Amino acid sequence: MSNMKEELRKLADDFHQQTDNAADLTELDALRVKYMGKKGPLTAVLRSMGSLSPEERPLMGQLVNQVREEMETTLDNKKSALRIAEKNLKLASETIDISLPGSSSGSGARHPLTRVIDEICEVFLNLGYQIAEGPEIELDRYNFELLRIPEGHPARDTQDTFYMSDNILLRTQTSPVQIRVMEEQKPPLKIICPGKVYRSDTLDATHSPIFHQIEGLVVDKDVTMGDLIGSLQLFARQLFGENTKIRLRPHHFPFTEPSCEVDITCWTCGGSGCRTCKGEGWIEILGAGMVHPEVLSNCGIDPEIYSGFAFGIGVERTAMGRYGIDDIRHFYENDVRFLKQFK
Ligand code: PHE
Repeated sequence: MSNMKEELRKLADDFHQQTDNAADLTELDALRVKYMGKKGPLTAVLRSMGSLSPEERPLMGQLVNQVREEMETTLDNKKSALRIAEKNLKLASETIDISLPGSSSGSGARHPLTRVIDEICEVFLNLGYQIAEGPEIELDRYNFELLRIPEGHPARDTQDTFYMSDNILLRTQTSPVQIRVMEEQKPPLKIICPGKVYRSDTLDATHSPIFHQIEGLVVDKDVTMGDLIGSLQLFARQLFGENTKIRLRPHHFPFTEPSCEVDITCWTCGGSGCRTCKGEGWIEILGAGMVHPEVLSNCGIDPEIYSGFAFGIGVERTAMGRYGIDDIRHFYENDVRFLKQFK
C-alpha cells in the first residue's frame, strides 16, 4: 500500500507541475486526458486496488478521491487563468490608437439657389401659405391651354418650348401648378410652388434653358389687387430689407387681368441708380396679376363668387441680386470655389 501511495503522490506532483506549465487550453485538455482519462495512471491505480487487503481498500479509495479532487481543482484554476490571459491578449491586439488624427470629411453648404428658395418659401409659409408641387413634364393643356394660351398665341413664342410630343412638354413656367391646385382643391387657397422650368434658350450670362421659379396663388372671396400689393410689399421687405419699396408696371399675361411686372428698389444703391440696376434704381423680380376669371372657371371655380391673385418670382434673378452674382452660369457649374462662398 505504501508503494501505491507514493506512486499516487508522484503522479499528482507531476500533474500539478505540468499543468502549471501548460501554455494554452489545448495543452491543458491533453493533460487532463493523459492523467485522468480511462487509459491514464489514475485509473490504473484504481484498478490495482484489487490487490489490497479489505481494510486497506477504503483508505486507499479515499486517498485516490482526494487526489483526483485536487487535480480537478488545479485543472479548473488553470483553465480560468488561461482564459483570462487569452482574453487580455486579444484585447491588447485589438487596441485602437485614439491618438491618431482623424480624417476630416469636410462639411458642405446649401447651394445659393436652394438658400434663396428656402428664404422666399419661409416668408410665405409665415403668411399661412402651403407648399404645392407639380410635374416638370407637363401637359400642353396645363402649361398653356387652361392658362388662356391657345395654340398659335404669340405668348407661346416667347417661351420657346421643349416638346416631348404634340401635347407633352417640359413646363415653361410654374403657372400650370395653379391649374392643378385649383382643379383639386377649392377656395380658400393660399399656395406657393417652387420648381424648375425649361425654355429652349441658349445659355449665356443671363439665360439658361433650365431655371427656377416660385409661383404664388391666393383664391378666396373678395381678394383684391390691394391684397396682392400688400403681400408683395411684405415679401420684398422681409427678403431685401425694411427700406425696400416695390413698383408695379402694367404688363400682359394671358392668365391674369390686370397684370403687372413688379420691381423693387435696387439692393445695391437703394434707388438712387448704380451699376447693378443700370442706373434705374429699380430691379424687376416678378410677374403678377389678378387671376383671370376664365382661368377660375376653367378649374370649376365660380368667378362671380371668388377672386384671386397670382405671382411668379424668378429665383436666379433674385439670387444674383442678393449675392451680387454677375453670371447665371455660376449656379450650374458646381465649381467649389464659387459654392464655398455661400457657407
Ligand atoms: N408665369 C409667368 C412667367 O413665367 C409669371 C407669372 C406668374 C405672371 C403668375 C403672373 C402670375 O413669366
